[in-house]
Amino acid sequence: MTDLRSYVRDIPDYPKPGILFRDITPLLADPDALTAAVDAMAAPFLDADIDIVAAAEARGFIFGTPLAMRLGAGFVPIRKPGKLPFDLHSFAYQLEYGTDELQIHVDGIKPGQRVLVVDDLLATGGTVEACLRLLEKCDAKIVGCSFLIHLEALGGEARMEPYDVHSVLRYG
Ligand code: PRP
Ligand code: ADE
Repeated sequence: MTDLRSYVRDIPDYPKPGILFRDITPLLADPDALTAAVDAMAAPFLDADIDIVAAAEARGFIFGTPLAMRLGAGFVPIRKPGKLPFDLHSFAYQLEYGTDELQIHVDGIKPGQRVLVVDDLLATGGTVEACLRLLEKCDAKIVGCSFLIHLEALGGEARMEPYDVHSVLRYG
């Protein structure tokens, strides 16, 4: 069995002092680790009748598309402003300094479609909360969220209630 944790590289003080960056690029570069990661993220949802996997750029896209294929689902991108060409729902959210915004096509999800939200990592939960609010605007049936990594100390899970959260690797 692949020890996925051994493929995550810790980089202290990136991108700024005090942040311990969990670098997944060694995992992405290894075929067995990449496959094992996708399998583990998909496993709880294999029988969940997922219609659509939704994920935010950029690292969410890396796992979102193979998960969609593994689950027999479609993929819907959630993007930064200026990237999606059709009519949009938008959600602005707080960062540590200032605000950011994510968008989804208004017709990306049909009302009632069963959606799984995917990202590489859950930290403060700001990104996934924005995704959830956008999917709610689409009247999606949100089945749950799947992450490779959950940084538990940052409290992101509380922002995701009442939705089901699954993560493969947890760091305290
Ligand atoms: C990272 C990561 C998650 C988010 C988690 O993305 O891929 O989407 O941070 O942090 P949060 O829970 O505090 O929102 P980032 O914004 O660095 O962008 P990237 O995917 O383009 O690297
Ligand atoms: N995104 C938000 N916090 C992160 C961290 N500590 N490592 C990698 N990606 C992140």
